[in-house]
Amino acid sequence: MKKLTFGVPEKNVPTKFCDGLNYTETAVSYPTDKIEFYENSRGCCLRFPLGKDEHVYGGGLQTVLFDLVGKKLTLRTNADCEVKTGDSHAPVPFLVSTAGYGIYIDTARYAEIYIGSSPLLLHEVGKTDDSLGTSTDELYNNEGAGGNISVQIPSAKGVDVYIFEGKTITDIVAEYNRFSGGGCDVPEWGLMPFFRMYVEYRDSEVLEKARSFIDKKLPIGVIGLEPGWHSHAYSCTFKWRTETLYPDYEKMLKELFGMGYHLNLWEHCFVHPDCDFYRDILPYCGDYRVFGGAVPDFADENAVKIFSEHHRDKLISLGIDGFKLDECDGSDFTGSWSFPNMAAFPSGLDGEQYHSLLGTLYARTLLRALEGKPTMSLIRSAGALAAPYPFVLYSDLSDFSEYIRALCNSGFSGLLWTPEVRYSFGADEYVRRLQTAVFSVMCNMNGWNDPRIPWENHGCENEVRELLNERVKLIPMLKKAFMRYRTEGVAPARALVSDYTNDAETYKTDDEYLLGDSLLVAPIAPGEKGREVYLPEGNWIDYHTRERVRCGRFEVETANIPVFEKAGD
Ligand code: GAL
Repeated sequence: MKKLTFGVPEKNVPTKFCDGLNYTETAVSYPTDKIEFYENSRGCCLRFPLGKDEHVYGGGLQTVLFDLVGKKLTLRTNADCEVKTGDSHAPVPFLVSTAGYGIYIDTARYAEIYIGSSPLLLHEVGKTDDSLGTSTDELYNNEGAGGNISVQIPSAKGVDVYIFEGKTITDIVAEYNRFSGGGCDVPEWGLMPFFRMYVEYRDSEVLEKARSFIDKKLPIGVIGLEPGWHSHAYSCTFKWRTETLYPDYEKMLKELFGMGYHLNLWEHCFVHPDCDFYRDILPYCGDYRVFGGAVPDFADENAVKIFSEHHRDKLISLGIDGFKLDECDGSDFTGSWSFPNMAAFPSGLDGEQYHSLLGTLYARTLLRALEGKPTMSLIRSAGALAAPYPFVLYSDLSDFSEYIRALCNSGFSGLLWTPEVRYSFGADEYVRRLQTAVFSVMCNMNGWNDPRIPWENHGCENEVRELLNERVKLIPMLKKAFMRYRTEGVAPARALVSDYTNDAETYKTDDEYLLGDSLLVAPIAPGEKGREVYLPEGNWIDYHTRERVRCGRFEVETANIPVFEKAGD
């Protein structure tokens, strides 16, 4: 890896907040002399060469984009990322190319990136116009445009850029992950199925459901409580709703722990005036409210101390070992409910920078509170250099193909993603979605908005039991994959192109993915009976039947989820 400094970089950048940063300079074959840098009235710009045959991926948890060539991305943090703009719960200024390199741009700004899609500069036209087609198709098709990757970084007068290299995309991303301190390790219980309870259940209902899971032999390991546990949520008090739903929460927790469950609590970071530490944290908050609450500045040590000590003393001390950190993204498409980009924070960050950094700074604050207690938690936003955080991303969006694409994309950027199961229209949808959740890094069933237990409601308890048992069987393999993430930086879930970077058939494949060392998963969408599967060259066996399967393209029809295992030679 190699660091290059252009102009005068800003102070508040992701590397500043990365505790385990691990930079070891090595020689790179990337033509660094071909990178152009200049300042303009909007900030500063970079231009990197882009070859005609290259395919480029990454940019964070993209849900609607995959191969980025021919695209323009604005890396803006956004919960409603349904358009092809680069908006994401977890945008990351890191790109990887099939040509053997990755580029990390160390900025917390909403960088605009044109990947082979920027118009040519006036002086360049003469150089390349012989390759410009004139048919409508050619004129409208930017893909394979070659030329360059152009980046505009707003406000900044300079930036550090890091170049990573490797034979495959998996190797390149692994180097980026090691640079951020290595992937996270997770406890085995965190790989067990999660069930998040209906938001308005009271203590006795939570206990009754938890007991029924055991009676029905449904191997659920983690119970999640949603906003209803706070005396006030939106914004949060971080104290129990003792007057109505949880009069004796300590007793409830004891019973749940006694049954062997782990407990995960929902929250966001916006602090309600009734919160016990509200007055203490106020001086270390931004100048705008969100949901009526104050926004702690987690780049300021004082805010981190107050927030994390409350969590440690009042929640973790009770035995809680996981959190779901919600709403730390914000939205630009639904009337904007978070702090604006013009917000100012005591540490000197502005709203734009804080949106890019909040997810990882929030996770870091909760890890401080946990004081080394292992966790597998959830979060709705992350950013650059997030691999060391055992926090898995999720979304309110629910399109099935977007969930699989997000799974593929997560592995390009040091992120973890759960294709969680929420409300479904029937048994078929619930089971199809659960199949994918089972074969992913976190198996999360989120029942927060429906008082009915989904498998009882849909009449599919047997299928659900079978799938959850399948999940439990996978845990040793997943644990190994996380060990590899920790030590080598290899992402536990990856797109096919990540391992098979020389196989052009994988360049557009965003509906199948690799899990751990040897599984290839090809989910079937709800409502479908089958699908086409592509297996790259090698020896494969059907995971369920153990029969040998030929590589290449073929049709599969099954009620199960198609999973294939790479066999030795
Ligand atoms: C959403 C979150 C859901 C659920 C809900 C509770 O923001 O994505 O999973 O937690 O809040 O209000």
